[in-house]
Amino acid sequence: MASVTSLSDSVQQHLASALTATRPEAAGADPLLRRSDRADYQANGILALAKKAKANPRELAAEVVARITTGDLIKDVEVSGPGFLNITVADRAITENLAARYADGERLGVPLKADAGTTVVDYAQPNVAKEMHVGHLRSAVIGDALRSMLDFTGEKTIGRHHIGDWGTQFGMLIQYLFEHPGELAPADEVDGEQAMSNLNRVYKASRALFDADEEFKERARRRVVALQSGDKETLELWQQFVDESKVYFYSVFEKLDMEIRDEEIVGESAYNEGMPETARLLEEMGVAVRSEGALVVFFDDIRGKDDQPVPLIVQKADGGFGYAASDLTAIRNRVSDLHATTLLYVVDVRQSLHFKMVFETARRAGWLNDDVTAHNMGYGTVLGADGKPFKTREGETVRLEDLLDEAVQRAAEVVREKARDLTEEEIQERAAQVGIGAVKYADLSTSPSRDYKFDLDQMVSLNGDTSVYLQYAYARIQSILRKAGEVRPAAHPELELHEAERALGLHLDAFGDTVFEAAAEYAPHKLTAYLYQLASLYTSFYDKCPVLKAETPEQVANRLFLCDVTARTLHRGMALLGIRTPERL
Ligand code: ARG
Repeated sequence: MASVTSLSDSVQQHLASALTATRPEAAGADPLLRRSDRADYQANGILALAKKAKANPRELAAEVVARITTGDLIKDVEVSGPGFLNITVADRAITENLAARYADGERLGVPLKADAGTTVVDYAQPNVAKEMHVGHLRSAVIGDALRSMLDFTGEKTIGRHHIGDWGTQFGMLIQYLFEHPGELAPADEVDGEQAMSNLNRVYKASRALFDADEEFKERARRRVVALQSGDKETLELWQQFVDESKVYFYSVFEKLDMEIRDEEIVGESAYNEGMPETARLLEEMGVAVRSEGALVVFFDDIRGKDDQPVPLIVQKADGGFGYAASDLTAIRNRVSDLHATTLLYVVDVRQSLHFKMVFETARRAGWLNDDVTAHNMGYGTVLGADGKPFKTREGETVRLEDLLDEAVQRAAEVVREKARDLTEEEIQERAAQVGIGAVKYADLSTSPSRDYKFDLDQMVSLNGDTSVYLQYAYARIQSILRKAGEVRPAAHPELELHEAERALGLHLDAFGDTVFEAAAEYAPHKLTAYLYQLASLYTSFYDKCPVLKAETPEQVANRLFLCDVTARTLHRGMALLGIRTPERL
C-alpha cells in the first residue's frame, strides 16, 4: 500500500514555502487553497497576511508569485483580484497523480490517519418484541455509512447495537408466556416474518390481558422483579423473546444489505448487573441525589415548562432502573473496557436531551474525561409526501420491511425498462441493489440533522442526485471497458489533457480528502455530493472526449485509464455508503 499526496496538498505545501520565503513571519500560515472555476485552484490566504503585515496585498501576492518555481507541478500562477493567487497545475502532474492512485489498488492512494483512535458507534438499535419502522432506518443507514468511512480513514470502530431488551413491558410478556406455554416456536424454526408475527400475537394478547385483569397485572409486576433479580426460569423465557426478535432483526438487516455482528448486539439488558453500582457510585459522589424516593441528577440549565428543573432519573422510587441507568453503565464499559476515545450515538434528535443529561452526568462522575469525546448525531424525521411524519394512509406507522419491499419493486420497474440483455433473475438481483441503494442514498444525501421526504419516485429516478444515476454511470464505464477488449487502460503522462479531463482528474484527486472531511464531521452527505459531482464530471468528459475512438492509441489507453479510475472511485465511495455498484445494469 502506497499512499499518494494529493495535488492540492502538494500545491498547498509549495505555496506555504513560497510564503515563508517571502515573509519569514508567515511561517505556518494557511494559504487557504480551494478549487476554483477560474483556474484549478485559488489561494486567498495572502489577504489576511497582508492585513497583518500592513502590506499591499497585490504587491505581496506578486512577491510570492516571484518565488514560485513553475514546472512539474505548477504550470502557471498569477495574481488576481485584490490579491488572490490563481494556480494551474501541469497536465503531467494530474495524470501521474492518478496513475499512482491507480497502482495502489483498493485504497486509491488514500493515506491512513496518523492519530487514529477508537470510536464506539451506537447505531441500529431496534426494540425487542416490536416491529421496526422507518425511524430505525436512519440510525442503521447513517451509522453503517459513518462506520465504514471512519474505518477507511484508519480509525478503529466498535459497533454497539443498544437494543431495547429490558424493562417493565417484559414482565407482562414473560408472565403471559408462562401462563400460555408453547406460543413461541423455538427461534431456529422460524423465519423473520413468522418471528415477527408470533411476537406481535403474544404482545397483543398479553397487553389485552394486562389491561383487563388486575390479578394478571400484579403477577406481571412481580415478574419484572424476578427478571431484574435474575430468576433463572424468567430469564429463560426472556431469552426466547430476544432470540425470536433477533431472527426478525436479522431478516430486516439482510434486506437492508447490512452486516450486523452478533457480538455487537449488546442491548440494555447487558448492563443490568452494572446498574446498581452505577447508582451507588453516583450517589456516593454526590452527583445524584434522592428526591421523592428516586435517585436523580439535576442540571441548572435544564428546566421544564413552569421553570421546574427536569432531572435525569437514575433509579425509580420502586427501585427499578431504566434507560438512563443503562446508558450510564454503557459509558463506563465503553470507556474503561473498550478504551473508546470517541462515543458516537446515531440516535433520533428527539433523544438529544436524554444524551445531554447522560453525558453531563458521566462528566461529573469522571467517567467521561477530556480524552473522550461523546457525540449524539441526532438525525431528523422521515416525512411522508404531505410533509408530516411518515405514516400509512390509515395513519399507522409504516413497517420497515414493507417500505423496503416497495422500493425494490419500484426499482425492478426501472431496471426492467432499461435492461436489454438481462435475465429475469438478474433483473431481480439488480432491483434489490438499486432499490435498497436508492433508499440508503436518499437518506444519506440529506444533512442528517434535517428531516426529509420519503419519495420513492424521486429516489429511483434516473435523473438527478440519486444512487441509480451513480450506479448507471458506473455500469456505463464497465461496459466501455468491456468493449475495449484487448485494449488495456494505461496512463500516458506525456499527453496534453482536455479541459473536461482536467476537471475530472482534479476531482478524482480530492476523493481521500473528501472522505476524511465527511468522516471527521459525521457528514455522509458530503461524500454523496462528491460522488454526484464525480458522475456529472464523468458525463461531461464522456460527451466531449471520445474514448474508444480517440485519435491515437495512447489517447485511447489514457482515456480508458481515466474511465477506470473514475469507476474505482465510484465503487469505493458507494461501498463506503453501503451501496452496491452492479457491473451491468
Ligand atoms: N432502542 C432505542 C429506541 O428505539 C434507541 C437506543 C439508542 N441508543 C442508546 N444508547 N440509548 O429508541
